[in-house]
Amino acid sequence: MIVTVTLNPALDKTAHVNRVCPGALNRLRDVVVDAGGKGVNVSVVVSVLGGKTIASGFAGGSTGEELLLRLDKRAIPHDFVRTAGTTRVNLKLIDDEGALTELNEPGALISPEEWQTLEKKLYSLASKDTIFVLSGSLPRGLGTDTYRNLCLALRGREGARVFVDADGEPLRQALLAPPDYIKPNRYEILQYFSAPPDTPETQLVEFCGELLNKGLSFVALSMGEDGAVFVSKTASYRAPPLRVPVRSTVGAGDSMVAALAYGMDRGLSQERCMTLAVAASAGAVTTEGTRPPDLALVRELEAQVQLRRI
Ligand SMILES: Nc1ncnc2c1ncn2[C@@H]1O[C@H](COP(=O)(O)OP(=O)(O)OP(=O)(O)O)[C@@H](O)[C@H]1O
Ligand SMILES: [Mg+2]
Repeated sequence: MIVTVTLNPALDKTAHVNRVCPGALNRLRDVVVDAGGKGVNVSVVVSVLGGKTIASGFAGGSTGEELLLRLDKRAIPHDFVRTAGTTRVNLKLIDDEGALTELNEPGALISPEEWQTLEKKLYSLASKDTIFVLSGSLPRGLGTDTYRNLCLALRGREGARVFVDADGEPLRQALLAPPDYIKPNRYEILQYFSAPPDTPETQLVEFCGELLNKGLSFVALSMGEDGAVFVSKTASYRAPPLRVPVRSTVGAGDSMVAALAYGMDRGLSQERCMTLAVAASAGAVTTEGTRPPDLALVRELEAQVQLRRI
């Protein structure tokens, strides 16, 4: 069972506009609303892959109810703590040239009581069959040590495992715990090691090895259109990217996290997990926004994945 934790979810509103004109009236068209937030995206993809998932986190106000309704429509089980504050709406504007402008609200302020309620809920979901996925930004009211504390409390509780997909200070602190699995992208790992953008790939693989030495058992380093590197105690692999028509790369990383968690939950071999991760993330870039990949396409793409041992 994969329990995703989205502490600052959103209703993602995507709209098209001819051109974004600051200081003027901008008329929107083709407005589409989706349940959003990185953990929520992971649950959606796990469910497309046929896995078992519960989406958890905080939801509040009418937008929070709308978010849960959208999960219901996708038949995704959820168990959110209701907050006094209102779930945010994130507006994504796509202009006629395809440029994306994002307007993100800060999200609800979380009270200490709401936090304790969520902690208790997550503890009750922990078992040897649970993989917790902690991903995305933190809401106001919670410190940058939140993921670290959750890792410490959840990892090993009844045998549960923890997967973290975060960046900046929350990731840095989580790594002190540490989690079992992480999936940084290139930017996130460079930032963590204070390394320059032109750092060679061999060095990035070494960075992943250093992270394993902290006690993690698996690091997936995603490199966007350049593919991915997977490093574990037993073996490391390089996966070149698959050639797919690109519609939106947003959420490709979430699909990779979902596929890895799904594979681990199902007890698939490490090679199968990585293959599925590359296929699902490539499938995700063929869809609009953070929409999940099509399962038939993922199956087709799996056959094209080439893992090279490094
Ligand atoms: N243009 C692309 N073509 C093929 N595959 C891609 C492309 N972009 C991304 N991918 C696949 O998706 C994976 C994850 O992408 P990326 O490194 O951009 O994640 P990310 O930055 O964490 O994304 P997000 O946080 O928005 O979900 C890559 O390792 C690759 O397998
Ligand atoms: Mg990411």
